Amino acid sequence: MTDLILGIETSCDDTAVAIVDGEGTIRSSIVSSQLDVHEAFGGIYPEFAARAHVASILPTVHEALTRAGVTPRDLRAIGVTRGPGLIGSLLVGLNTAAALGIGWGIPTIGINHLRGHLRSADLGERRVKYPATILLVSGGHTLLAYMKNTAEIELLGTTRDDSVGESYDKVGRMLGLGYPGGPAVDRLAKEGRAAIPFPRPMLDAGVDFSFSGLKSAVARYMESVPDAVAGDVAASFVASVMEVLVKKSRKVLKNYPSASFVIVGGVAASPQLREAAAGLCREMNVELCLPPLRWSTDNAAMIALATFDYLEHDVLPAPVAELQLTIRDF
Ligand code: KG4
Ligand code: ZN
Repeated sequence: MTDLILGIETSCDDTAVAIVDGEGTIRSSIVSSQLDVHEAFGGIYPEFAARAHVASILPTVHEALTRAGVTPRDLRAIGVTRGPGLIGSLLVGLNTAAALGIGWGIPTIGINHLRGHLRSADLGERRVKYPATILLVSGGHTLLAYMKNTAEIELLGTTRDDSVGESYDKVGRMLGLGYPGGPAVDRLAKEGRAAIPFPRPMLDAGVDFSFSGLKSAVARYMESVPDAVAGDVAASFVASVMEVLVKKSRKVLKNYPSASFVIVGGVAASPQLREAAAGLCREMNVELCLPPLRWSTDNAAMIALATFDYLEHDVLPAPVAELQLTIRDF
């Protein structure tokens, strides 16, 4: 039997379709961006996002099949993001996937978007040594998870408010650095001294995160110290973020025996985070796994790869008709 999966991802503002095999080899991965639709609003406008998905979903499916040089007959199943995400956007992908599955006579499997991100580390080749502790840090997500193997994922902690990437971007804006703020804040931080005592939110409280208090503390500091040295602000902010990320990750590595520590998401590009993670891994004697950053942003290849977990272990999740859109649902 063929082992090709068609993945569909429409949880937010990109229409993505990919074809992946059981080894994680990507036959095609198309991401149709909606940047031009939302740019004028300075953010994502859900109604327009859904409409743009309607316009592009079938052409994107067609392109993914054509680029991979396969026909629907070659497919074993369809995997589609079932949440979390914008409901109007999700529905376009879900209904298209369900209809194609019925038409083509193959199963359609609903996949949690976050499982997709966590599995993105194995795209292209198998890199992750299990059991693994995974830190997902991006513009949209911040979480720590433990994967005993590809079938058993435990979500340990997530953010109560802003994501790490968001707080980087907001601090970048306060410092006049443009968007995205992450890389610029990191560069500036290297020139400054981490001498300002910004808070370390929820440092000793479990492995959930909170970053909005830190962002507000930076804003208050900037207001009250008009001649603040931008490099020192950046360095102090980054030091606070790193201490929180490292301490929480250490806590998980101590309590959950791990062969590797994996970091996925856009913030994994941070040199400061990479260095801190390398130190932590030496201390804990686990292997550090930093997959290629190109798979960090939303894509359908990660959704297709995650679909194999269900097929391989024969534990089909709720069919698409029984949607559960909660973050805790793996
Ligand atoms: O995963 P990603 O590419 O996409 C979304 O989640 O949408 O993550 C983007 C985030 C942005 O917030 C950006 O500022 C952050 O990743 N980022 C960084 C760095 N490069 C990108 N944050 C810190 N340091 C970096 N070098
Ligand atoms: Zn995402």
